[in-house]
Amino acid sequence: MLRLPRLAAVACALALAGCTGDVETPTYDFGLFPEVAHSGFNPKASFKVMFGTGATDPAWSIEDPSVATIAPSPPPKVAGTTVSSMSFALVTATKAGETTITMTSGGRTLTARLVVKAYTDEDLEAGRARYETASTDPARAPCASCHAKEGGVDHSPLKMAGFDDATILEVIQAATYPASSSGRSATSAFAPTGPLEFTGHTWSLTEPEKSGILAHLRSLPLGGL
Ligand code: HEC
Repeated sequence: MLRLPRLAAVACALALAGCTGDVETPTYDFGLFPEVAHSGFNPKASFKVMFGTGATDPAWSIEDPSVATIAPSPPPKVAGTTVSSMSFALVTATKAGETTITMTSGGRTLTARLVVKAYTDEDLEAGRARYETASTDPARAPCASCHAKEGGVDHSPLKMAGFDDATILEVIQAATYPASSSGRSATSAFAPTGPLEFTGHTWSLTEPEKSGILAHLRSLPLGGL
């Protein structure tokens, strides 16, 4: 599959409105994104991910329907970009497990993986508390103080489901993505590598808060909606 060179991604980030046609159309030609989606399950929260494709009139199916439901979805709203030419499926996790998502269009078939991890009530509570609770320690600023405000950077599953746990924890604690692309969004050319521009994104998490924050992020409403 085509990967965007980093410079193109940066140019795109700097001129979001202008990049859609140039960058997304070729990248999304008949692809299925993300290749692997990571989600979670706990009956007290809602864990959803979105799969996107540039193929026309896609038919969607899931190998093990006990792990998740799948249904066609209208395009999500993504700040600064237009994804109305793509087709989407909304996947809602119903138990922990791994399975395959299949998209068929015009006689061609593509597959992607869905990985659903079990989270405990304690994980959910530890994540919510770390996300929201004010602290006098500057390394423990509440995530919500930036991400939950108007215009805050989206880190819901709409953007982050295509990244595994280790990648997300590095972004949170060490302000960097891996050197080579390890995943991508379902809705844009977002396939980052290397350090964040915000180098101060080095937040502290206790051991229980690591799975907690993953449980919290993976159960956020898609794109904040
Ligand atoms: C001071 C404001 C601030 C705080 C506090 C903060 N973030 Fe962020 N976060 C940002 C900004 C800004 C970005 C985008 C950084 C960049 O791309 O350079 C970001 C990016 C991210 C990303 C990656 C999204 C992307 O677009 O690459 C994740 C995941 C994330 N933050 C999670 C968290 C979590 C979890 C916490 C709390 C433990 C947290 N953040 C605390 C401002 C903040």
